[in-house]
Amino acid sequence: MANKCNAILSLLLLLVGTSHGGGIAIYWGQNGNEGTLSEACGTAKYSHVNIAFLNKFGNGQTPEMNLAGHCNPSILNSCTKFSAEIKDCQSKGIKVLLSIGGGIGNYSLSSIQDARNVSKFLWNTFLGGKSPSRPLGDAVLDGIDFDIELGSTANWDHLARFLKAYSRRGREVYLAAAPQCPIPDRFLGTAINTGLFDFVWVQFYNNPPCSYANGNITNLLNSWSRWTNTVPATNIFLGLPAAAGSGYIPPDVLTNQILPEIKKSPKYGGVMLWSRFYDVKNGYSDSIVSSV
Ligand SMILES: *[C@@H]1O[C@H](CO)[C@@H](O)[C@H](O)[C@H]1NC(C)=O
Ligand SMILES: *[C@@H]1O[C@H](CO)[C@@H](O)[C@H](O)[C@H]1NC(C)=O
Ligand SMILES: *[C@@H]1O[C@H](CO)[C@@H](O)[C@H](O)[C@H]1NC(C)=O
Repeated sequence: MANKCNAILSLLLLLVGTSHGGGIAIYWGQNGNEGTLSEACGTAKYSHVNIAFLNKFGNGQTPEMNLAGHCNPSILNSCTKFSAEIKDCQSKGIKVLLSIGGGIGNYSLSSIQDARNVSKFLWNTFLGGKSPSRPLGDAVLDGIDFDIELGSTANWDHLARFLKAYSRRGREVYLAAAPQCPIPDRFLGTAINTGLFDFVWVQFYNNPPCSYANGNITNLLNSWSRWTNTVPATNIFLGLPAAAGSGYIPPDVLTNQILPEIKKSPKYGGVMLWSRFYDVKNGYSDSIVSSV
């Protein structure tokens, strides 16, 4: 019986063709009750952690972070305790990025010069540069995630170019983007078209024409296919909410109906979840990690 099952399984795998393995990217930082970074990385479930958010920058403003109840970035050394935790995550092979933007804030790039200035600030404050004021301490983050959802649509491509230019052999500056699923993304389309983004976690939620809804996977799969076939990015992630709401996919639907389809693409990078807080609460990644 077991042999027969194995034979059938092998045949099925042959018919299905190549299936690609992926990781889980998680957003951390917007809820003080989601546990520490080290706890998140200690679960061994995540491949990428986005620290969210730097939500005020550009246009000559003094940049500001918001890490909800975790710490107060405006108080000297309030958040530097996360430096050791970032290094701990990185020692486990997990990439840690700073996410800039978000749904609430005040950010925009007023010119190419402004994009250059912001890139320099990010390099010196969070990446491999030096600054007397590093809110996350001396840990060198792996890169920058663009979650641009408001303000002006201009100059994000320039910021991407300036940041990528800081890459050195053995110390890549990774770029990630979190566009909405309609193509092109209003804010990030031009930037993503530079082809400079290492990871693109598409938000397949809050957008019914390209999200899962009412048990229907058609719009989602069609959109996935457009992303993987038309957008110049090599690692595309299926971005999902880890809690009920627009675009939420029950874990069994994801693992049985959706992952087997989207994993056929060589551009499949894995699943992105918003957010660590909801994931802790609902155990979403526990239910899907073995299938991702
Ligand atoms: C450049 O960025 C810094 C933040 O690092 C900001 O305080 C300053 O106002 C910016 N300069 C200009 C000319 O926009
Ligand atoms: C955002 O910042 C700009 C420039 O500092 C300022 O003029 C504007 O009033 C701010 N907008 C909001 C919504 O705070
Ligand atoms: C699923 O959605 C697609 C696209 O909107 C539609 O054409 C199709 O009829 C739907 N399928 C079902 C079973 O409702």
